Amino acid sequence: MQSGLRSKLLEAFSNAEGGFVSGQKLSEYIGCSRTAVWKHIEDLRKDGYELEAVRRLGYRITKKPNKISDNEIKIGLKTMKMGHHVHFEETVSSTQKIAQTLANEGAEEGTIVVAEQQTNGRGRMARQWYSPSGTGIWMSLIIRPNIAVQAAPQLTLLTAVAIVQAIEEITPLKPDIKWPNDILINGKKLVGILTELQAEADRVHSIIIGTGINVNQSISDFPEELHHVATSIHLETDKQWDRAQLIQEILLKFENLYSLYLAQGFRPIKLLWEGYAVSLQKPITARTINGTVVGKAIGINDAGVLLIQTSDGSVKQIYSADIEL
Ligand code: BTN
Repeated sequence: MQSGLRSKLLEAFSNAEGGFVSGQKLSEYIGCSRTAVWKHIEDLRKDGYELEAVRRLGYRITKKPNKISDNEIKIGLKTMKMGHHVHFEETVSSTQKIAQTLANEGAEEGTIVVAEQQTNGRGRMARQWYSPSGTGIWMSLIIRPNIAVQAAPQLTLLTAVAIVQAIEEITPLKPDIKWPNDILINGKKLVGILTELQAEADRVHSIIIGTGINVNQSISDFPEELHHVATSIHLETDKQWDRAQLIQEILLKFENLYSLYLAQGFRPIKLLWEGYAVSLQKPITARTINGTVVGKAIGINDAGVLLIQTSDGSVKQIYSADIEL
């Protein structure tokens, strides 16, 4: 089926919000004959959609395939800009790499790169990010804010807030944020965020925000060494979740917070972030490349830098570290 026709057909079902759409309406909406509609419906079935057909009422989608695609992300997307350009691939080495190339080629702000699987997913501190096929959200978003290089970490904290808000909106979970941007449930990691910067002189050229979200993994989908440190939304709720819907909600929450940030600066974002943070006002250990700092996390400053008060009363600024609570 031509991708334009498929989008129109899926759009018609999306507009009906789970209800029936008559064959007549579908043929008018996508501009083809009733016989052609029937053929397109059969194509959707072959691709894993389950549809119910009832005489006089028409068709309705009862189950969507557990796949992410360009269409699944775009249809029903409520943003003004974020996610309007989707670069989707089945398997990539890292969505970050592709997003960097697209950004260099002038991709518009809000462009996303999404893959079903990454063979070489990148994590913070040069770690690997485990990204098996068909279970999680492996996504990189390109933004081009007109901000100074030092302000870039603020966007990482903003993204963490957007993802927590989206998870809270769609699932019953109430995640925590561990500085700077790990999203946890019951102390186990659900989401990782990797922010990479392309800058010219002292201005940001583009920021690539990479998000890895464990959505539908069972325990056996994780390698043994991650069993006690990682979790998925499925493991915490015993349900399978629609990844495309989660992506849409994340993009919407991100867009709202990003507009607030561009209009009013980091202050309102900082307040929201602090509301979700588990690492504040507690004794913590921060392992940085320059050594370990032990003390009490007393907050973040206006640049998003973590402040730790050590036993001698001095306050250390932590720009990048692994945190142990
Ligand atoms: C972390 O170490 O916590 C950050 C993990 C970030 C993983 C995401 S998955 C999508 C994007 N592509 C990558 O290669 N990494 C990020």
